[in-house]
Amino acid sequence: MKKINDLDLSNWKELTDVWTDTLWIIPNRDNSGAHSGYYHGNFVPQIPRQLLTRFTKQGDYVLDPFSGSGTTLIESQRMGRNSIGIELQQTVAAEAIERIHSESQPGIVADTFVDDSRTFDTNRILETYKIQNVQFIIFHPPYWDIIKFSDDENDLSNSKTLESFLENFRQAVHNTVAILEKRRYCALVIGDKYANGQIVPLGFYCMQVMQREGLTLKAVIVKNFEETKGKSNQQALWRRRALQNGLYIFKHEYIFVFRKDMTK
Ligand SMILES: C[S@@+](CC[C@H](N)C(=O)[O-])C[C@H]1O[C@@H](n2cnc3c(N)ncnc32)[C@H](O)[C@@H]1O
Repeated sequence: MKKINDLDLSNWKELTDVWTDTLWIIPNRDNSGAHSGYYHGNFVPQIPRQLLTRFTKQGDYVLDPFSGSGTTLIESQRMGRNSIGIELQQTVAAEAIERIHSESQPGIVADTFVDDSRTFDTNRILETYKIQNVQFIIFHPPYWDIIKFSDDENDLSNSKTLESFLENFRQAVHNTVAILEKRRYCALVIGDKYANGQIVPLGFYCMQVMQREGLTLKAVIVKNFEETKGKSNQQALWRRRALQNGLYIFKHEYIFVFRKDMTK
């Protein structure tokens, strides 16, 4: 079978920093070099690093259709993987590219297209870099309206209803998975939300969207998170609300891993 990573399995007992469990406790964010924790709604670099270690090889192309501050692209570049981001907001993409290129690696592509992932012509990626497909996709969409990223109506965080959010997410998946190489992997990072006194399990809804798009579910990983910027200074308030209303405070989000087995 064709190898999908650079791990030397004859040496597997020594691969202690490659995670294989479904519970990821990451105490601190890696803020080294070009990484910047400034972007509200970014993910910790350890997430793409672990996924790229398991599911990509040097020289592969990684696609991030919601690239934001460029965490995936920075990790890809450091690991000798080429990477392409798609980001709706021009200013966010430009700021990210400046940081990413501050530690660029010779011969390694790290580039961002400013566009809508639902409708972006993915052939532009294939034509620009003279490639047939990409080898890994990491989806980190807005968690619906938890953080409003912009005023743009094409921004998934401005979806008016849950149904329209899921349909917008579906379109982004459909459009980009089309250029994922067959038998290669993609991952979704997402958390849930509360609304009107109940949980809206965005993670499981989006997981099902991807399954319905024909992707094979390979892993459901739970990752901890500590307080977000939005909730800092509000810990006591959240705890009181939880005690009063029979709720539990979110301390986790999901990483779903899929493989593209279908022929389309
Ligand atoms: C959760 S953030 C991703 C953060 C990223 N992983 C990082 O570490 O910085 C989601 C991003 O998706 C962007 N976005 C929202 N709707 C989009 C769309 N239709 N097409 C492309 N990007 C979109 C937002 O502007 C935001 O930057």
